[in-house]
Amino acid sequence: MPNTRTVQVNDIQMHVRDEGAGVPVLLVHGFPLDHTMWDAQIAALSAVCRVIAPDLRGYGQTDLGAAGDPPKVTMQQYADDLAALLDALGVDEPVVYAGFSMGGYIGWQFVKSHRDRLRALALVDTRAADDTDDARKMRLKMANHVQEWGADKVAEAMIPKLFAESSIEAVHPMVARTREVIGATNPQAIAAAQRGMAERPDSTPDLPGIDVPVMAIVGAEDQLSKPEEVRSVVHAIPNAGMVTIPAAGHMAPVEQPDAVNLVLTEFVKSVGK
Ligand code: MLT
Repeated sequence: MPNTRTVQVNDIQMHVRDEGAGVPVLLVHGFPLDHTMWDAQIAALSAVCRVIAPDLRGYGQTDLGAAGDPPKVTMQQYADDLAALLDALGVDEPVVYAGFSMGGYIGWQFVKSHRDRLRALALVDTRAADDTDDARKMRLKMANHVQEWGADKVAEAMIPKLFAESSIEAVHPMVARTREVIGATNPQAIAAAQRGMAERPDSTPDLPGIDVPVMAIVGAEDQLSKPEEVRSVVHAIPNAGMVTIPAAGHMAPVEQPDAVNLVLTEFVKSVGK
């Protein structure tokens, strides 16, 4: 039985899966998903460490809370929720923070504001740059219309960008599962995250100052955080490695779980000593 619980974090009840023992590893999901995207990583990593995988504010079974009108949740707010979650769980040891895509954007704020809680950083299919003007416009369009469109339409639009063509053609079971998760997401949470991502800062200038070990993982066919872009992020960080996962798009952790688990497990072991 999965060990899930709900804890009070700032103004919300946060749903979290908490498995295993040892070095704490915080798995932070992307947009617009929930902690179940990490199911395969939770199964593998919980044999060697403690895995903490929350549903972020507004996602999965976690409340959106007071997000304002129109709703917006900044990357800083999500990062502060995560630090408060660690307090609520009594985790005082520094964590390995593993952030997927938006989870990585949140990670840059976590590094800035909660450096004392951090042991190492795993960047999974994510980027450091802010949005182009066009990307920002698209986000705000979705934020303003998602209530009338419905989350299913968001799922249909996103699936081809999230997965490698080969995963879609092979009818990978996680394609249908991901469509389901996105389709069940609260449109207000989608709008809130899009507004927050649209105004996220460019984290590129901060990269040379990151003083924890970093491991970047990226799907070879990721269209949203392209391997060349991830490589330039890795080059700007003093102590960073990178692994490219073949036959995977943006959703590398669900498309090629064994390959991703191997990299994460070795990384956690190497920083946990
Ligand atoms: C994600 O996977 O979290 C999103 O694609 C991030 C984004 O929209 O930039």
